[in-house]
Amino acid sequence: VYPLSAGVIVETKELWEEISGCLDAAHVRTVFELPGLPDDRTALMDRIERLAPDVIILEVGTLRDPLENVVRQLRSVTSQPAVFAVRTEANPESILEALRAGASEYLYPPLEEPFHAALERLARSRESQHLRFQASGKLIAFISAKGGCGATTLACHVARELPQQVNGTVLLADLDLQVGQVGFLMKANSTYSLADAAANLQRLDRSYWKALVSNGLPGLEVITAPQAPAAKNLSATQLRQVLSFARTQYDWVILDLGRNLTTNTLSMLEMVDETYLVAVPELPALHEAKRMIQNLRDAGYPHALRLIVNRMTKGGEIRADEIGDMLGLPVFASVPSDYGALQDAYTERQLVNPSSKLGATFAQISAKIAGLPPKQKKFSLFG
Ligand SMILES: Nc1ncnc2c1ncn2[C@@H]1O[C@H](COP(=O)(O)OP(=O)(O)OP(=O)(O)O)[C@@H](O)[C@H]1O
Ligand SMILES: [Mg+2]
Repeated sequence: VYPLSAGVIVETKELWEEISGCLDAAHVRTVFELPGLPDDRTALMDRIERLAPDVIILEVGTLRDPLENVVRQLRSVTSQPAVFAVRTEANPESILEALRAGASEYLYPPLEEPFHAALERLARSRESQHLRFQASGKLIAFISAKGGCGATTLACHVARELPQQVNGTVLLADLDLQVGQVGFLMKANSTYSLADAAANLQRLDRSYWKALVSNGLPGLEVITAPQAPAAKNLSATQLRQVLSFARTQYDWVILDLGRNLTTNTLSMLEMVDETYLVAVPELPALHEAKRMIQNLRDAGYPHALRLIVNRMTKGGEIRADEIGDMLGLPVFASVPSDYGALQDAYTERQLVNPSSKLGATFAQISAKIAGLPPKQKKFSLFG
């Protein structure tokens, strides 16, 4: 059986004793216990986000706030815990209210049998969710050391190459809420954005999602960043919930995380499998990159962090291996500087020509990210 964890918010002592007996008998791990809901719930919500219980057991007879608001708030964290409403005695009105509010069970003494059955149902549904989650796609992120290093350029060009290379489906998601340019560069034709996904979390399923994304290139779909200032205020939790869903729909998900580290990006990075930090061979950018690497390491981010140096020039002042030494992270890939090629392409509203030198570099980087063996150089008489 799937191992469940629970948070208990119960005031009545007898009820609490009965519940804790049932949880013990069912081998459910209790991650927090509270005698009631605090008025200021900021700390509690942080705790729930962090501890990610599968279920919150909530005594409903004693609440001051409308149950609907309380349940909605408790479930607004990434793990979307189930809420079991418990009460000292049955109360027909309260049963309806609890179920309408989004509680998945309504329980009252004697608890033993119904409680056990409810936990079993929950374990089964959590298990299937978990399997779906495991079967979900790889999540990678591009992030600029400072503005203009090329995170968006790399994210878009890798996204173009990846579907054919991995023979799978790819989502490019623009998480740069300040200046989301992916939609423009990819000629996204949807009027919807991440804000619409976040506002409709309850309705997210395959067909709803399909209405939000754009597709222009084979195997690639794009979800844009919100453009209206009022829509840009998305919380880390909302974004994580959207991404948790999105990654179940694709083989790969590519994020453009904009520049440098914010609380939102740090929270996204917890979900990410690989982060590609994009810098340029100039001291201010390298300085920021070094700081970011240090911050991520200090915060104990366990996933792979890789360095891409963009806009390298032949005979430039700093060599790639020197940059790697300086930052304490070897250079995963470097990209030559070719401003003209990009401007020409953008003037035509295209990405760079795949057969150009810059285009070929993006394809190589994408293949390396995908873990494909490097192509052998063709033997040529002309060198
Ligand atoms: N290899 C390159 N050679 C020349 N110019 C480049 C290269 N890569 C990116 N650029 C140009 O640099 C500018 C910034 O690139 P891009 O928008 O990808 O950076 P970013 O890191 O996403 O910036 P922002 O912080 O604004 O999100 C663009 O005008 C882009 O065309
Ligand atoms: Mg950008």
